[in-house]
Amino acid sequence: STKPESYRPQYHFSPPKNWINDPNGLLYYEGEYHLFYQHNPFGNEWGHMSWGHAVSKDLLRWEHLPVAIPEFTHSDGKTKTAIFSGSAVIDKGNTSGLCPAGTKDCMVAIYTGNVTEGETQTAQYQNVAYSSDKGRTWKQYDKNPVLDLKSKEFRDPNVFWYAPQKKWIMSAVKATEHRVAFFESKDLTKWTLLSHFGLQGDTTKVWECPALMPVPIQNEPGKTKWVLFISAGHPQKDYVGMQYFVGDFDGKTFSLDPANPKPIAPAVSNVVDYGKDYYAAIQFNDLPAKQTGPVMVGWLNNWAYGNKLPTTPFKGAMSLPRQITLKRTSAGLQLMQQPIATVASLRSDIAPQALVKVSDQSRVVEKSVPNSYEFRVDIKPGSAKTVGVRLAKNGAEETIIQYTNGKLQLDRRKSGNVSFSDRFPSVEEAPLNLQNGVFTLRVFVDKSIVEVFANEGERVITDLIFPGEPSGSIEIFAEGGSAEFSNVRVSPIKAVVA
Ligand code: FRU
Repeated sequence: STKPESYRPQYHFSPPKNWINDPNGLLYYEGEYHLFYQHNPFGNEWGHMSWGHAVSKDLLRWEHLPVAIPEFTHSDGKTKTAIFSGSAVIDKGNTSGLCPAGTKDCMVAIYTGNVTEGETQTAQYQNVAYSSDKGRTWKQYDKNPVLDLKSKEFRDPNVFWYAPQKKWIMSAVKATEHRVAFFESKDLTKWTLLSHFGLQGDTTKVWECPALMPVPIQNEPGKTKWVLFISAGHPQKDYVGMQYFVGDFDGKTFSLDPANPKPIAPAVSNVVDYGKDYYAAIQFNDLPAKQTGPVMVGWLNNWAYGNKLPTTPFKGAMSLPRQITLKRTSAGLQLMQQPIATVASLRSDIAPQALVKVSDQSRVVEKSVPNSYEFRVDIKPGSAKTVGVRLAKNGAEETIIQYTNGKLQLDRRKSGNVSFSDRFPSVEEAPLNLQNGVFTLRVFVDKSIVEVFANEGERVITDLIFPGEPSGSIEIFAEGGSAEFSNVRVSPIKAVVA
């Protein structure tokens, strides 16, 4: 049976050891993708927040680097600044003058300084740090903070270059007000308030990690709409998740698109991921031109039980990088998410199985396969009441993905170790439309991760699981009638992480 380390993902990012949460400072620069992340360098639970660091040439294979920006103690010897979430940009030509004179391009991190004295939080404001060696070493700006509203709930600056007006834009949350504030700057150190957006969608949880970006519309070349992502918005109470808003941004104000249904809480129409374990996702800055549209990475965990996951010596992982687009539907512009196309290069492809008709029964697709693969299938529910697939199955232990009553569900109640938190066992649910009577599934299983992309990424469900065995069977099934399964493909994926 499994040891804690055998839950380690094989083709998703996880840290060598200790706790991680949000991805931070996602950035492409001179052939390298940078992934910084919330990290506790000293333990396997949240604490001592610092920015960990990894780089990749292809967004799939990551090289671990030393901690980039550590928590620091002030000159009084007792005040501490933890390095909370934020973003990173390239200041081309070092126009800000933050890096030493003569530096070609300056890498600048804009993050939240969370200040404490002992156990007492005294401030939360925005700081900058800079690097003239591609993020390997960092210096704190000596006039920090750069933006202080004298609030203790003001965080997660997300900065990007707004080319039409040649300026930097920052979104940051006023977390407990359920609002995003937008700021502008010419030099990354002096910031001016532009506008607010908020009190929309799910306002039952604190708002965190805003991310604003133009997103291309499928089949409408050259057309984009602005999308604002907010972490806080799970359809189930007491779980964190993400919501999105489609609209316009003119360099000053983000306004909702009147053609898109206005999200109301608890909304199901603007949920980013219907699972429990996708949060704090942000976009890469400065992607190479060959990449169409934004790429986002999210943290695979939930604050409801995050510290209790049964893994050592590490805790936490990142999603596959997701390519983001919009699709025009009768219900407005719909967010579409797909793993980046090159993920396909990881799988050892096998020929699809021929069409299978299944009537009121289960069929084994694989008797025993290591839990590290991509599984694809097109399903026509036909007359069946419930259709689906059972993964990582060993006897009574199984993770079920099924379609019933117009809904796609992921049931992890019997997925293995679910007892470390009573908030963990759960059934997730997303509305799903059939297309010509069919829906498609693309499922990535990676030890303790299940990422489900249905109908080309129109619905996504991401959940963690902790199976008792490192291998399991895969079954397809239909109940209450007969269904057709076509293009059934199991593609093993070998380890690409250390
Ligand atoms: C989101 C978050 C952020 C904060 C960070 C602290 O998961 O709570 O709002 O900056 O984590 O680690």
